[in-house]
Amino acid sequence: MEIKKLVFIRILIAVISLEIPLLFCNNTERGENKFIDSLISVMTLDEKIGQLVQIDYGTISHERAVELVREGKVGSLFNLGILDNCLKLQRTAVEESRLGIPLIIGQDVIHGFRTIFPIPLAESCAWDPKISERNARIAAIEASACGVHWTFAPMVDIARDARWGRIAEGSGEDPYLGSILASAKVRGFQSNNLSKNNTIVACPKHYVAYGAAEGGRDYNTVEISLITLHEIYLPPFLSAIREGALTIMSAFNEINGVPASANPYTLKSILRDNWKFDGFVVSDYNAVNELIAHGFAKNMKKAAMKAFLAGVDMEMMGYTYFNHMKELVEEGTIQEEQIDKSVRRILKVKYRLGLFNDPYYGNKEREQKEILKKEFVKQARQSARESIVLLKNEGVLPISDKDLPLAVIGPLADSKEDLLGSWSCYGRPEDVISILEALREKYSDRNILYHKGCEIIGGNKKGFQKAIKIAKKAKTILLVLGEASWMSGEAGSRAYIGLPGYQLELAKEIRRNTNKPIIAILVNGRPLAIKWLADNVDAIVESWQLGIQHGPTVVDILSGDYNPSGKLTVTFPQATGQEPIYYNHKNTGRPPVGERRRYVSWYVDLPYGVLYPFGYGLSYSKFDYHDLEIYPRSLSINDTLHIKFKITNKSNIAGKEITQLYIRDISASITRPVKELKRFKKIMISPKETVKIEFKLPIRECGFYNENLEYVIEPGLFKLWVGPNSAEGLEGEFIVK
Ligand code: NOJ
Repeated sequence: MEIKKLVFIRILIAVISLEIPLLFCNNTERGENKFIDSLISVMTLDEKIGQLVQIDYGTISHERAVELVREGKVGSLFNLGILDNCLKLQRTAVEESRLGIPLIIGQDVIHGFRTIFPIPLAESCAWDPKISERNARIAAIEASACGVHWTFAPMVDIARDARWGRIAEGSGEDPYLGSILASAKVRGFQSNNLSKNNTIVACPKHYVAYGAAEGGRDYNTVEISLITLHEIYLPPFLSAIREGALTIMSAFNEINGVPASANPYTLKSILRDNWKFDGFVVSDYNAVNELIAHGFAKNMKKAAMKAFLAGVDMEMMGYTYFNHMKELVEEGTIQEEQIDKSVRRILKVKYRLGLFNDPYYGNKEREQKEILKKEFVKQARQSARESIVLLKNEGVLPISDKDLPLAVIGPLADSKEDLLGSWSCYGRPEDVISILEALREKYSDRNILYHKGCEIIGGNKKGFQKAIKIAKKAKTILLVLGEASWMSGEAGSRAYIGLPGYQLELAKEIRRNTNKPIIAILVNGRPLAIKWLADNVDAIVESWQLGIQHGPTVVDILSGDYNPSGKLTVTFPQATGQEPIYYNHKNTGRPPVGERRRYVSWYVDLPYGVLYPFGYGLSYSKFDYHDLEIYPRSLSINDTLHIKFKITNKSNIAGKEITQLYIRDISASITRPVKELKRFKKIMISPKETVKIEFKLPIRECGFYNENLEYVIEPGLFKLWVGPNSAEGLEGEFIVK
């Protein structure tokens, strides 16, 4: 029935526009253009504006949603909840609106739909594009089975400040790694044929520099140089677009005085003119309306005008386009042809999704069959294993039978919901296996003594005594500490990034009262300032928020069933006051090195340096780097540098190493970071095996943006390091002629 209506529309459009070939319109670009042009030619101004409007279904009644869709006043809805809603509203759009243009249905599918994977920050610690791609693919299969066409992901904001709660949603602080993982996720969501009904459109966000919010406070002002914008914040977006992402979300923040959702420089000059992006731009939630609060538009009408003219095609909520666009066109402030351009972009994405052929993604059968499949859960476990970062191990891990019984203490041990992390979509706590459950399963109930000790935040110290009592009875103590899931993600910024509530005191009390090995397991959505733990416990396992398989995965690592290999994609500070902190910082004129002394760039109340550097993570294997060779030593701009070295696994345990290549341009017309990641590789190395690694680095990739924002490579000396993290490794150098 509904397909018949689509056929009818095609015939109608074809006849009206005398374009009979349209009847046979296929997926060629010509067919696409003709179809869309013809469709636009029969649309009223109201219907066109409708395509530019996106509404959060959760904020209106179902009846109102039906009415708006039937009248062609909305082109996209999101947060529809269940499949049934998606099908019903799509049916209204296709069968009851005048032209039957299908809706594009959106959802925040950030780290899984129902099968919840590690939060993106954790996933990035696997340094494995295949994992990122696979997880996104599974998320797309599940989401599409439930009627979703479009995800507001990947979040590709570089984050250098751990106070910012949204650091959890991205791939950390490095633009090179961030770019590779951004593309991988786009590939996963969109796959190679968007018209298949198990693929969804990606939407890299939040364009741009949202992660540079002052003070790490969400939605806050951003003031950065254009060089930093180009060098640090833009690359992952470009990478996602080159990979074929067909939509992009404009951010909440302002950039140097101009809000990102009305910014002609970023939305037009960079996105359209330089990058040739031909998909559509959607604003973030209410971001156009918020131009008024920013002090950038004096009312909703001006806000609509400024955002639209700057390049926002579709407005997410905010209702400024809905209420004022017609007036703006009628009075001549905005030309109808400009509206047509945006409509064309939106229809193109709908067309590429195949919605004009089959507007119904998902059905009951697919929903039943394709959610939480065994192989998906298996992948959730595997990706979680690779995401865990072992931060410290004074010979106490892995645990063996002689280390039992275990005292399991801490407010995150028995939690399920917090293991899902923020943006857990349709994930359910009952799908999650907690750390406590998994420990009991592995070591049997009799070897597990448990007491919560205190709450995550708030509460009191009443549980301390009982926790100390079981700690005294056990041979090994596991402290499961960290953050609640609501403490990171959107609006989840923190002023202090230590352990919240009484948790640190609990840890101190346990240490003071026992002499047993203590292993801290962290559950959190950001780097934490955990200097005391680093100095006083015997091992630290950074497990982040790993999704439904969190518990068993932690046990895989603790027991040695799996050898940890994850490495940090964000720097861990010693104290909150060091934020923002990142490895690729500038040297300053007075770098703090050597013996502590005054008049260097330091804090009087803190030792020099970071707690754990970018790229850092331990393994149960021991890797040794040696035999670095670099050639040629002197190169021209068009040459490629070859870097060879060896890694030996000196241990008896097979393990994966994520080996990293960094460079530093020693002297340039714009000061350069002390290190920049240029390559990495993850390799499995057998016990006692020596592997040869080779990186090839075109000198073209060693440049930077100069004062005129031109990408240049300046001659001179470069240093280079290959190693296990950003602070260690073999050092070499080369010269660019
Ligand atoms: C606001 C968030 O900033 C954005 O990331 C999200 O996609 C939208 N809300 C829709 O939920």
